[in-house]
Amino acid sequence: MKKIIIAIDGYSACGKSTTAKRVAEELGYAYIDSGAMYRAVTLYFLDNHVSITNLKEVERALEKINIHFENISGANTTFLNGANVEKQIRKMNVSNHVSEVSTLAVVRHAMVAQQRAMGKRKGVVMDGRDIGTVVFPDAELKVFMTAEMGIRAGRRQLELLEKGQALNLDEIRENLEKRDHIDATREESPLRKADDAVILDTSGITLEEQVQQVVALAKEKM
Ligand code: C5P
Repeated sequence: MKKIIIAIDGYSACGKSTTAKRVAEELGYAYIDSGAMYRAVTLYFLDNHVSITNLKEVERALEKINIHFENISGANTTFLNGANVEKQIRKMNVSNHVSEVSTLAVVRHAMVAQQRAMGKRKGVVMDGRDIGTVVFPDAELKVFMTAEMGIRAGRRQLELLEKGQALNLDEIRENLEKRDHIDATREESPLRKADDAVILDTSGITLEEQVQQVVALAKEKM
């Protein structure tokens, strides 16, 4: 069977990462969480007081940033300059700044170059906002995930609670709406459905159904 690239894009908290991770497991593919990379850059900028309005400062900071992923006890784990930052990058202060950081062309170019290198050998499932449109425009399978806002906010609340963060629904909803707006309206590679992407609305289906639908689509392309 031929190895392919599966690009999964869509709005925040539609279940992209969970689906992508499971699909990768089923197919024996690598899973790459591109959002985690933008989150790691944001964490670095916050911790090191990098001003995103100062391009020179941003460029200098990017040179010092090294991101890699490791599988720790079956969980995809993000490392920033050798430190495990998986927990920190999911916190609300990062979520509240990541979309602004992600509007910067220099940041995007640096991340896209790394993402392309990670997908060079194919056999990858990558999720994000611009994977099917910019990172891998020739991906064999492109999926664009959507879900109703109420459902997305509820799912994210549960996910954060499982990680020990209790947040109210309004705060989560506000963050999702703000990020979606910035992501979809930015100048540099805005979030949009690729013309050849399959739409997957996850509002009324289970995670298992989402996974099986994507796996079935992938097998048609292999
Ligand atoms: O996927 P996740 O919700 O963790 O992504 C966090 C943020 O990173 C998004 O809201 C978006 O601003 C940015 N992002 C992006 N391009 C990607 C992946 C994520 O701009 N490919």
